[in-house]
Amino acid sequence: MSKKIIITIDGWSSCGKSTLAKQLAKKLGYVYVDSGAMYRAITLYFLRNHIDWTDKKEVNAALKEIHLDFRSNEQTGDSEMYLNDENVEYVIRDLIIAEKVSDIAAIKEVRTFAVAQQQKMGTKKGVVMDGRDIGTVVFPKAELKIFMTADNAVRVERRFKEMYEKNPNVSIEEVKSNLEMRDYIDSNREVSPLRKADDALVLDNTNLTEAEQLSKALAWVKERVKTK
Ligand code: DC
Repeated sequence: MSKKIIITIDGWSSCGKSTLAKQLAKKLGYVYVDSGAMYRAITLYFLRNHIDWTDKKEVNAALKEIHLDFRSNEQTGDSEMYLNDENVEYVIRDLIIAEKVSDIAAIKEVRTFAVAQQQKMGTKKGVVMDGRDIGTVVFPKAELKIFMTADNAVRVERRFKEMYEKNPNVSIEEVKSNLEMRDYIDSNREVSPLRKADDALVLDNTNLTEAEQLSKALAWVKERVKTK
């Protein structure tokens, strides 16, 4: 597999996009980009600095103060989100951020800011990027587009387990209502709503193990690299 391609993975919250994206990137020697982490880091900045995000001027001024980059963790090899040189990889996974991030990600200026940086990261190809609009807006010409989905109950259960490990006070109801709210906002917003690109391949992983979904995706990669 010598020719490098761009792989986009879009889909609902908590259906395993980042797990698959990370595994694919590792297997193929590609760069993994978690575009959601960028919206989360912007949200963190807005909350910390009490930015009124209904005010365009304030949003634009705030965006000028934000520098985002991904750096590799020397121990784990995982890519981590940095906001103005601070490692925010852990704090952006908080429920406080999850409760606000869909509102922030719906702002046109915020999306223009993030998408421009995401597109730059893809100029050399060899990238796996996950998010909501990657196959439709960020890389509409990507060689392989995957749209992931899974049953709601399975998604809630998975996200609950993940959050419970960090915070045992979290309830399954809280997680469920947050997921439902984010899915609603993400797929109904005016700018770049979540939708399947016409040429995306659907991967429903409700009944698949991680190994099974990886081998399915790798078969698609093989096919696309050949036919490119
Ligand atoms: O993938 P995630 O849950 O970390 O994403 C956090 C939020 O960011 C999600 O609610 C929607 C938004 N998002 C987006 O609008 N576009 C992307 N490309 C990625 C994420």
